[in-house]
Amino acid sequence: MKTINDIQIVDLPKICDIRGNISVIENNTLPYKVERVYYLFDVPSSARRGGHSHIKQSEFLIAVSGSFNVLLKDGLNETIVTLNKPDKGLLIPNGIWRELENFSSGAVCLVLASDVYSEDDYIRDYNKFVALKTK
Ligand code: TYD
Repeated sequence: MKTINDIQIVDLPKICDIRGNISVIENNTLPYKVERVYYLFDVPSSARRGGHSHIKQSEFLIAVSGSFNVLLKDGLNETIVTLNKPDKGLLIPNGIWRELENFSSGAVCLVLASDVYSEDDYIRDYNKFVALKTK
């Protein structure tokens, strides 16, 4: 059973010179093969995204631009992570509830997912999530 202790903040390598920076995600950065990449952009500051957990899928979130908060819950405990650096990512394993909020102007949330999109993998009802985690 995954808990918020299984969430990891991953420092990505940063290659800097006067022309700017490069951060890299390679084969061994994540504990899974990336099957899908998607990104959130033009998110109104008042919007809340996420509001679900995944049954099997893991996701890696990066604020490639701007900032936003990620509220994470495991049914017992919760924590908030602010993502605001393109060389830092948040690894969320399956079985963790997440809500994304407080998007700054111009924020872009890049997501590298362990699976293709499948609505069957989502739990979108928080009470159902808690019931599954605590049964
Ligand atoms: P949703 O999962 O609710 O977005 P978020 O959790 O980021 O707030 O997705 C919104 C809509 O987009 C929903 O109809 C499902 C669809 N969608 C896809 O078709 N493919 C995808 O890879 C994703 C992430 C969402």
